[in-house]
Amino acid sequence: MINQNNIRRILVTSALPYANGPIHIGHLLEYIQTDIWVRFQKMRGHECYYICADDAHGTPIMLRAEQDKISPEQLVEQIWQEHRADFTDFLIDFDNYHSTHSPENRYYSELIYQHLSERGHISRRTIKQAYDPERKMFLPDRFIKGECPFCSALDQYGDSCEACGATYSPADLKNPHSMLSGATPVTRESLHFFFKLSNFETMLKDWIVSGPVQPQMANKLKEWFNSGLKEWDISRDDPYWGFEIPNAPGKYFYVWLDAPIGYMASFQNYCNRTGICFDDFWQPDSKAELYHFIGKDIAYFHILFWPAELTGAGFRKPTAVNCHGHLTVDGQKMSKSRGTLIKARTYLQHLQPEYLRYYFATKLDDGIDDIDLNFKDFMQRINSDLVGKLVNIASRLTGFITRYFDSHLSDNLAEQELYTVFVDAGDSIAQAYEQREFGRAMREIMVLADRANYYIEEKKPWLLVKQAAAENELKAVCSTGLNLFRVLTIYLKPVLPHLAIKIEEFMQIPPLHWSDIRNPLLNHTISEFKPLMQRVEQTHITAILSDVGKLK
Ligand code: MSP
Ligand code: ZN
Repeated sequence: MINQNNIRRILVTSALPYANGPIHIGHLLEYIQTDIWVRFQKMRGHECYYICADDAHGTPIMLRAEQDKISPEQLVEQIWQEHRADFTDFLIDFDNYHSTHSPENRYYSELIYQHLSERGHISRRTIKQAYDPERKMFLPDRFIKGECPFCSALDQYGDSCEACGATYSPADLKNPHSMLSGATPVTRESLHFFFKLSNFETMLKDWIVSGPVQPQMANKLKEWFNSGLKEWDISRDDPYWGFEIPNAPGKYFYVWLDAPIGYMASFQNYCNRTGICFDDFWQPDSKAELYHFIGKDIAYFHILFWPAELTGAGFRKPTAVNCHGHLTVDGQKMSKSRGTLIKARTYLQHLQPEYLRYYFATKLDDGIDDIDLNFKDFMQRINSDLVGKLVNIASRLTGFITRYFDSHLSDNLAEQELYTVFVDAGDSIAQAYEQREFGRAMREIMVLADRANYYIEEKKPWLLVKQAAAENELKAVCSTGLNLFRVLTIYLKPVLPHLAIKIEEFMQIPPLHWSDIRNPLLNHTISEFKPLMQRVEQTHITAILSDVGKLK
């Protein structure tokens, strides 16, 4: 049992998805990873909050709204609804899901900016930038195309050439044109605001050795330090979709300035609803823990800019920033044209969310290597582990209990030692969850599932039932097997919350907590067995792949 003093206070975030497109299964790797970790913490009795929001600002969202002939507010609202539905249906259990286009976020963005200004961490200078004279707006690099200055390949982006791999600045492109209007960009000057990241070099170097990032990321960080911490451009000119900078008409906060602040804003919104104390979690001396789960592509923002901003503005730093690798599908990068971009919704039309949750769990560890969704492997894993090993235990035993014992479990276990083995495995499994070694946790749980099945093989209830003298033994064996099944359910509940609910209903018990492993279910009436999980069939997979255009 966890006593009062061991209760940790934990605030957890996932990266905020952009409000300009649907959630896909690559995103879900992150939300599922975080959700499993949070559910585990809650089952252990800790005070843990899972906070997220849509990332609602920036040029792509402004342009997408224009294209759809709606206001950015309308687009952001519509996508928020869609994202919410996708997350809910994947059993991602946020305590709060907000938006960066919110009063709370405006408040904290202005506050942080003001603190940084007052403390000398903001500078201003005029820079030259590409400007679209027809659309009358400055052009982000990726909205300019032209010929590569090195190999003359046509139709290359403003920052790098896909043909020869060279990187350059948009000003070097030959025959450049704006992707918005086709016009030739002109160079214009404009006053920009910068965050002086180098003011925080010493702080960041001290912070990094305190263990907030994985070793691979710490190495990356050393590279960044070696190439020098540059000032970060945090302003954008009108027209822009975002928050206007106070006392700077026509200047807006760059989306990446207000995005991570969205973590605070969403939490503030949650605190307003629930009465939890915001400051307990964000003051510099906070005893609470703060974790950000992110993909490695956005590490620069989270392990350099963000802790620096927080420190500069007088808030605490994250306890850790947990990076994960990227999802590939059948060995390929997710891409629409290759038919490997699978939307959350497309998946849900054909398969249960928990299959993907379990599959990701078997593949996740605490590292940053990419993770592959191989559909053959996926089908085999689910059918062999969840259907073949796990659910099978209950379906093999429950019938006997219902038919011969009035659905009543025995009042002691036939095999106390075996049960103790299952309970004792809990520490190692919990440790694996805690360290985000979900793959190891799943392997350890499946070893136990094998043992439970082996126990049934050995005791042969289908033979015991034929011997009148073995009635008590039959009852005790089946009750023991179902109790082993119950412990496995507890261990898997962070990954398979919906299955756990079905099992709780079938066993007629209140929601399971981790500590319930210690108290077997004895002298207790269960209900009838209902099928808990179906096999994955090739037809489901084929249907998904044909929906995304891979099979034509
Ligand atoms: N809006 C920013 C994050 C701001 S956080 C203050 C963003 N959004 S995103 O929609 O592009 O990505 C959201 C998260 O999903 C990121 O952590 C990103 O790494 C992750 N993933 C997006 N595609 C992914 C895969 N294919 N695989 C694994 N994670 C992926 O970045
Ligand atoms: Zn080139």
